[in-house]
Amino acid sequence: MGKFAVLDHPLIQHKLTLIRDKKVGTKAFRETVNEISALMAYEVSRDMPLEDVEVETPITTTTQKQLSGKKVAIVPILRAGLGMVDGMTSLIPAAKVGFIGMYRDEETLKPHEYFVKLPGDIAERQLFVVDPMLATGGSAIMAIDALKKRGCSGENIKFACLVAAPEGVKALQEAHPDVDIFTAALDDHLNENGYIVPGLGDAGDRLFGTK
Ligand code: PRP
Ligand code: URA
Repeated sequence: MGKFAVLDHPLIQHKLTLIRDKKVGTKAFRETVNEISALMAYEVSRDMPLEDVEVETPITTTTQKQLSGKKVAIVPILRAGLGMVDGMTSLIPAAKVGFIGMYRDEETLKPHEYFVKLPGDIAERQLFVVDPMLATGGSAIMAIDALKKRGCSGENIKFACLVAAPEGVKALQEAHPDVDIFTAALDDHLNENGYIVPGLGDAGDRLFGTK
């Protein structure tokens, strides 16, 4: 079974509390999602492999560490996942970015895929799939299905969200037990409309000022 971690760094927790407030407007919401995403990138990339490299400093030659292993791609699930891209790439600037467009039918809560655009070498990369909300889990499951269909291995996929419902975590773990899941918060439950309680509302609408 992949890892499941709630990222309880005080800065992440504080910033997430700020944006749960319904009075926070689009600008502050978007900026804070970016800040949280950068902090999450730091935690999510913690086990990236290192290799020894020789460096000539002004004083001497020394053996030090540099990143090795797979190159990275960030894969936001549109739309709301877009809000996490700048924060992630601020720490991993060489990462490529792939896009998976998914919307949830408001009646059935079932996800529908409408767009996929990925780097050509996606199957060779370490992937960070990002979406602020893991509610029923349907969107994340279908996005990871789309990646596996294109040759990606679950062991190279980490899913990062801001708020998860227990129902979504369970569904995602059952569908993709090989994928690590990171969240800034594990909330209480889903309501009858499929919204996370207490949650932060509709992440896409709050990020982009729609509705
Ligand atoms: C939201 C959110 C996730 C999905 C989570 O997207 O960003 O992608 O719902 O719900 P689930 O776990 O039950 O699938 P939405 O469908 O509202 O689209 P948007 O990002 O374009 O607003
Ligand atoms: N999608 C959201 O944006 N918010 C929720 O609470 C659930 C799904």
